[in-house]
Amino acid sequence: MFVTVSLLLVILCVQGGHGEGREEAQRPGHVSVVIVGATGDLAKKYLWKGFFQLYVNQVSRGNTFSFYGGGLSPADKATPLFFEILKAVSCPKDVSQERCALLKEQFLRLSQYRQLKTLEHYQDLAKRIEKHHQDEGMTEAGRLFYLSVPAFAYADIADKINNSCRPTGGAWLRVVLEKPFGHDFASAQVLASQLESSLREQEMYRIDHYLGKQVIAKILPFRIENKKFLDPIWNRHHIERVEIVLKETLDVKGRIPFYDQYGVIRDVIQNHLTEVMMLLTMRLPLNLSSSEEVARNKLRILSSVLPLVKTQAVIGQYRAYKSEVQQELNKTKGHVSLTPTFAAVLAHIDEAQYEGVPVLFISGKMLDERVGYARILFRNDVFCLQSHDSVHCKPKQIVFHFGHGSLRYPAILVSKNLFKPVSTDGEWKEVTEHSDVNVLGLPVSDYYVQTPTEQREAYEELIPHIFAGHKNSFISTENLLASWALWTPLLNSLDSSFPLIYPGGADNGDLLDVRLTGKDISYSSEVVIISPDQMGGASANGFQVIQGKFRNAEMVSAWAEELLEQLAADVQEAAEAALRESGVFHLALSGGSTPLALFHRLALHHFSFPWRDTHVWMVDERCVPLTEPESNFNALHNHLLQHVRIPYFNIHPMPVQLNHRLCVEEDRGAQLYEKELGKLVNGSSFHFVLLGAGYDGHTASLFPGAEVGELGESLVALTESPAKPHQRMSLTFSAINRAHRVALLVMGKGKHELITQLSRVQDNQGKWPVTGVKPAPGRLVWYIDYDALLG
Ligand SMILES: *[C@@H]1O[C@H](CO)[C@@H](O)[C@H](O)[C@H]1NC(C)=O
Ligand SMILES: *[C@@H]1O[C@H](CO)[C@@H](O)[C@H](O)[C@H]1NC(C)=O
Ligand SMILES: *[C@@H]1O[C@H](CO)[C@@H](O)[C@H](O)[C@H]1NC(C)=O
Ligand SMILES: *[C@@H]1O[C@H](CO)[C@@H](O)[C@H](O)[C@H]1NC(C)=O
Repeated sequence: MFVTVSLLLVILCVQGGHGEGREEAQRPGHVSVVIVGATGDLAKKYLWKGFFQLYVNQVSRGNTFSFYGGGLSPADKATPLFFEILKAVSCPKDVSQERCALLKEQFLRLSQYRQLKTLEHYQDLAKRIEKHHQDEGMTEAGRLFYLSVPAFAYADIADKINNSCRPTGGAWLRVVLEKPFGHDFASAQVLASQLESSLREQEMYRIDHYLGKQVIAKILPFRIENKKFLDPIWNRHHIERVEIVLKETLDVKGRIPFYDQYGVIRDVIQNHLTEVMMLLTMRLPLNLSSSEEVARNKLRILSSVLPLVKTQAVIGQYRAYKSEVQQELNKTKGHVSLTPTFAAVLAHIDEAQYEGVPVLFISGKMLDERVGYARILFRNDVFCLQSHDSVHCKPKQIVFHFGHGSLRYPAILVSKNLFKPVSTDGEWKEVTEHSDVNVLGLPVSDYYVQTPTEQREAYEELIPHIFAGHKNSFISTENLLASWALWTPLLNSLDSSFPLIYPGGADNGDLLDVRLTGKDISYSSEVVIISPDQMGGASANGFQVIQGKFRNAEMVSAWAEELLEQLAADVQEAAEAALRESGVFHLALSGGSTPLALFHRLALHHFSFPWRDTHVWMVDERCVPLTEPESNFNALHNHLLQHVRIPYFNIHPMPVQLNHRLCVEEDRGAQLYEKELGKLVNGSSFHFVLLGAGYDGHTASLFPGAEVGELGESLVALTESPAKPHQRMSLTFSAINRAHRVALLVMGKGKHELITQLSRVQDNQGKWPVTGVKPAPGRLVWYIDYDALLG
């Protein structure tokens, strides 16, 4: 099974191999390649093909190879599958069928599967490698371990490699790692320090396969080759905007257990798109072959990106994601994931060269097309009065088109009103025959177009770099941590934000369009989204919701989640009924913590809720400024209003602050609210009033002992609470009892005592204010969860 093929010894020339003493010298000899995770998806799809190509290219250059496929399964089980994968590997295009068949046969003979689970397995592997060298009288050049395994296994495998598989006698060790490299700054740091105890920095090759994409690998050479054209315009005076975009059409079905922990920012923006940003904006290295200088310049620009805050990002989630999560994570129907599958982030760089230039990162799943690109859009100060299609009037831009999209091939496009780029690189050619397509607003014939003479996959590009010890295309520990340091605070601040739900594909329309306003970004579309609610809430079938009576009124009872689902559905039903009757829905909402879960439910599940025709009123308010966390309006805003498309003039906070003071009788805030109510609400009768009940039996801000009966006919009043802040503004029973429908929501074990007492006591508004809720013309429904009902 294992025979060495003798080869001509030719001195291997490696471009830029010494890098200030850091990159290791290449000497010809025997190379052992070990892929750990040899039969996994990545290995099957790309790695073995890449290593076969490496073998084909190196076979006549003096190195000999052995290939080991490692995995957790025992050899007798995995070997047949392993060889099946190897046999299926395709030949490089420039090699004849005949020669390829021969090389393939050799490749198979040089390959073997080994179980790599315990330290002993690694020790055996090392013995195998050393014995092989002795038997064949070979000099060792190096050992390359490719860890194509989940990241949690890295530290352990690196430790085993350090303990048993280090080569001696000047041969090199290289260990290749695939993302994810952590989940945030802290976890990346932990992983980095674990790896550091087993491997030296120059031995680690962290792959970002984006750096192997031909167009991305060409960004720096392009900037250098065209320096004389770019120098005058590559700055804030000329650049309008930088866009780095990766649009995908696929969903994440099947990958949810991974994806739900990460989301789009961690999955592609923190790594791939950030790398592209650095290549576009970093200071050009004097020596492109010096990976140290390149890494240093990258780090410098990354550290100049201004801290990212919440207002600089918008997030979205495709509609079907939720049910995919429920299915793959085995969650109940009420489970909600806030993981974004779409994000747009606006960054700025704190360097004079780029001051004020927006750098936009965008990526998402389930979008309308598959495409990746970076565009530098330049300002165009020409105003064309008549000949609008003259080249001077068109967008001035450079597009690094990574692949796919309408163009379908990787290319660098420079609009003809900029300059004609030069290329001294034999591996690139100019395209002059153009198909009839548009790229970012320009027909492709309006660009100078360069494309690689031969298209190669990222892994085919990167594997030779690992072999040659070129570290430029890999992520250093320092840069990795700097990238997490930039993204982690933003990720934390978005932690509990609601993503905008989008339908997916072409149906997204302009829903995900964004607007840049100064340093902030927002969704630009202002239309109300009306779409069928596919995400639950539509029916209560299958849930244990019991209907009954409580204090001679209707009662709905269920576990908390189902209860809220029912209540949200009832609110929506009332809204639709009111709309049919009078074209508008007047909803009054209480403060406190109990309704917050209802607000979430409405924001996240009720996409067809008619917010545009809904007026939201307050049942009560604390006498604090509306911007304070204690303000009921503030909570309502944060938990509901900012997540739905409701016109601002439909929102009616209570005027607790007038003339720069809070709740002063003579400022007549209560009367003002009553007047507004009388003007907008027919008969001052709300369609729906949501109330809670406090432990002491209070409701709205009508507290026991206060002479709530003395408020007479007034609809809004200032009241006193025994708890701080004492002063309140509240609807009175006169207002509440005019409503068409009142819901009394009581939840939690802590309310069991109250419910028990209320079930026994007579109406006594003074002692138990909540017993005064009796909407004369309307319906009262108690919503009581099982915890409160049963204790
Ligand atoms: C550029 O860097 C490479 C690798 O570090 C080195 O071998 C080469 O001598 C450098 N060239 C110049 C001109 O400094
Ligand atoms: C590797 O293991 C040796 C001992 O087995 C230890 O001294 C060394 O610090 C470890 N790490 C590196 C990077 O060599
Ligand atoms: C999935 O959920 C069902 C019902 O809730 C349960 O019986 C089953 O054990 C769960 N399976 C897993 C893998 O958690
Ligand atoms: C206002 O309410 C009254 C009494 O319920 C009703 O007859 C009338 O049609 C309503 N007006 C409008 C404009 O809805």
